[in-house]
Amino acid sequence: MTMLIIGGSGFLGTELLRQASSAGRLAAATFNSRATRTDGVTWHHLDLRDARQIDTLIDAVAPSVVINASSGDADWSVTADSSFRLATATARQGIRLVHVSTDAVSSGADVHYDETALPDPVTPYGAAKAAAETAVRLLHPASVVARTSLIIGDGGSTHERVVHELVAGAREGALYTDDVRCPVHVTDLAAALWELAVSDAAGVFHLAGPDAVSRYALGGLCTSNHPAKRWSLVYTAGKSPLSRAWHSTVEISWGNRFRSAMALVVSGTSSRMYSPRSARANSGPVLFSKSHVLLRAR
Ligand SMILES: NC(=O)c1ccc[n+]([C@@H]2O[C@H](COP(=O)([O-])OP(=O)(O)OC[C@H]3O[C@@H](n4cnc5c(N)ncnc54)[C@H](OP(=O)(O)O)[C@@H]3O)[C@@H](O)[C@H]2O)c1
Repeated sequence: MTMLIIGGSGFLGTELLRQASSAGRLAAATFNSRATRTDGVTWHHLDLRDARQIDTLIDAVAPSVVINASSGDADWSVTADSSFRLATATARQGIRLVHVSTDAVSSGADVHYDETALPDPVTPYGAAKAAAETAVRLLHPASVVARTSLIIGDGGSTHERVVHELVAGAREGALYTDDVRCPVHVTDLAAALWELAVSDAAGVFHLAGPDAVSRYALGGLCTSNHPAKRWSLVYTAGKSPLSRAWHSTVEISWGNRFRSAMALVVSGTSSRMYSPRSARANSGPVLFSKSHVLLRAR
């Protein structure tokens, strides 16, 4: 039973593979630009823009499960078209498919979104992911579409790196208070995805952290254990570049549909789950250990 991770060289893909290895799962994975070697993983080069490569890969690996953790941002060919092709190939061969999507399929016009919310994207990336969701759901009805929010973890995520670069003066930018999301730790997200992958669940699932946090607040938490705290981090004047305030708080409303994963994601393990509430209770950030603080005070 081989599990195939599309986008295995990415941030989420790497954690999915780490957990597969810990659980003794036979894993294969793809990379595009970042050739990777991992013990126990069979790596395949893949360009999702090439339809033939997708079919060839699926035939060669013959996986029982495919988790699509690739990201082509707003590139329609990578994000939308290839999801259509992957859904077609896996459905045709009766292969289980877990497709990773995003809260960016929602505009943020509402505050809370549950799994029944229809996409109304306002960005090119959100539109491509929404198109991908539609293709996956219609072509492969037994698949899982897992919407997540900002993925963070132990300093390695893009979002944490951006904050560190802002503080270091290595880039200019703003962290807005009107861009509110539900960040999730990559470890918790990967565990929930594996739980879905080996289940027979189907449909849309929201896998997000328990707390709604603005980019501004996230930046503060990323830097809160720096001893100096003398940097100028955020600019709050003005609205985020999104046309409407982005309050795409992903509501965790699975109820009894998927009880164990809900417990996993909502409660988490406080030492790993990104949670400002737990941070306050413990009078310190729970996520970022001192060794991960790479900040330089101005
Ligand atoms: N990061 C977030 O905060 C966030 C939030 C919501 C949803 N998501 C979703 O979560 C998933 C994982 O995100 P991530 O942050 O882990 O992404 P990531 O680190 O940027 O990794 C992207 C992966 O996609 C691969 N890829 C890119 N272009 C490709 C192409 N043309 N052909 C084949 N593979 C290609 C990359 O391969 P190479 O690196 O080898 O080029 C890499 O393995 C994505 O579906 C993303 O949309 C992410």
